[in-house]
Amino acid sequence: MKNCAVILAGGQGKRMKSNKPKALCEVLFKPMIDWTIDAAGDAEVDDICVVTGHLHEMLEEHLAGKTKTAFQAERLGTGHAVMQAVDFIEEFKGGNTLILNGDCPLMDGDTIQNALSYHERHGNAVTVISANVENPFGYGRIIRDAGGFLKEIVEEKDATPKQRAINEVNSGAYWFKTDVLLDTLSKITNKNKQHEYYLTDCIEIAIQNGLQTSAFTAQNPDVVLGANDRIQLLDLNDKLRYKFLQEQMLAGVDIPCSEGIIIGPDVEIGTDTRILPGTVLLGDTKIGKNCIIGPNSYLTDTVVGNDVVLDNVVAEQSKVGSGCDLGPFVHLRPCSQIGKEVHIGNFVEIKNSTIDNGTKVSHLTYVGDSDLGKNINMGCGCVTVNFDGQKKHRTVIGDGTFIGCNTNLISPVKLGKFAYTAAGSTIYEDVPDYTLAIARNRQENKVGWVKKKNKIRNME
Ligand code: UD1
Ligand code: CA
Repeated sequence: MKNCAVILAGGQGKRMKSNKPKALCEVLFKPMIDWTIDAAGDAEVDDICVVTGHLHEMLEEHLAGKTKTAFQAERLGTGHAVMQAVDFIEEFKGGNTLILNGDCPLMDGDTIQNALSYHERHGNAVTVISANVENPFGYGRIIRDAGGFLKEIVEEKDATPKQRAINEVNSGAYWFKTDVLLDTLSKITNKNKQHEYYLTDCIEIAIQNGLQTSAFTAQNPDVVLGANDRIQLLDLNDKLRYKFLQEQMLAGVDIPCSEGIIIGPDVEIGTDTRILPGTVLLGDTKIGKNCIIGPNSYLTDTVVGNDVVLDNVVAEQSKVGSGCDLGPFVHLRPCSQIGKEVHIGNFVEIKNSTIDNGTKVSHLTYVGDSDLGKNINMGCGCVTVNFDGQKKHRTVIGDGTFIGCNTNLISPVKLGKFAYTAAGSTIYEDVPDYTLAIARNRQENKVGWVKKKNKIRNME
């Protein structure tokens, strides 16, 4: 028996005032539709079909290779949207179909899975996921009979004042026996105040046919939340952001102040690591134990060892070994591999380079397309001149070498081990091991020149 999911994402979301379809509006930097797809994936459905509508090409392009799609040319209601996916659903006869709203990113895999267990345990034809909310305005209300059994779902616009006072609402997520869904879909009409084909009418028909249906109440009422405008989107961001911060704190991460901290769902952080305000950790970022990350650090797909300090660091697709100390104000551009106990200081940029253990790059330096050995000291204001205007070249520096301040290393160039460069040198030829390279003009002192030429500066 196989289960499938249909996600409804045809809506325009006018109030978002976006050039994208609503389902592509982002919560925690991830499109709402992707949160929904991941929730369905967590619930282990065998295949997913997304119903597209407004700006469908954009959504189809985004979903290519991830899910199937069905196009709804006109928005005639949630029931009509599911009808567009009938060919897909038919392949899952005998199993169950999960329906989700593509704009409810807080609906999670656990809730969906618990609802499925409940659905199967009770042998239900349909299970509606409901929630008890403080403000039920705008949602379909769950109407139960005297015995507490689900009777019908009434939309805000169709509800009587008494029904509007009900706080239990429809989340828009359901498990249907696939055969029941297909049968009832063919029977719904648009005879209601909004002249729409309501998917909720399928449930009413199932009840009228004497089939077992019920509402499964989600523990977390936030699962129903959707966003119609940017203000509600911020509310979803806040809720999800705090959820992931809580997960990290429960796992032993120290967050003394949560201001401006965003931690993506796939980020792993070791115990006793402290995250300071203004820090954003995204993608497949992994951080070890006992680190201090922040303030104001922005890491994407970056792996960090234990006991590392990253103060005002921006890093993308990079690695930082244990015991390193970076910042303040360091930029690691993609493919930077920093070894252990490396110090990188004020206003340093590293790009596509390897830096081995114990090396120091302290201030105002650019290291690009370079391989630096162990225990090197790069002075202040050094530049690896890696671009000749047409091609990028590499700079290689051996272990224990000392690069004097304001050295330009014109690549391709190779410096041996335990070499020195004199401050202010422009090095364009290789430097052998144990060698001092001086590549600057000798200084000439003209003694008494100032007085002789009457050039003493007026200091007032
Ligand atoms: C729906 C439910 C309501 C529930 C609420 C939860 C119905 C009749 N009502 O109401 O009981 O409380 O969700 O959020 O189902 N969509 C399409 N094509 C359409 C219409 C909608 O793809 O023709 C998509 C939308 O993009 C959205 C989802 O379906 O992702 C829900 O549609 P929406 O119009 O927001 O439904 P509600 O009226 O809020
Ligand atoms: Ca809605």
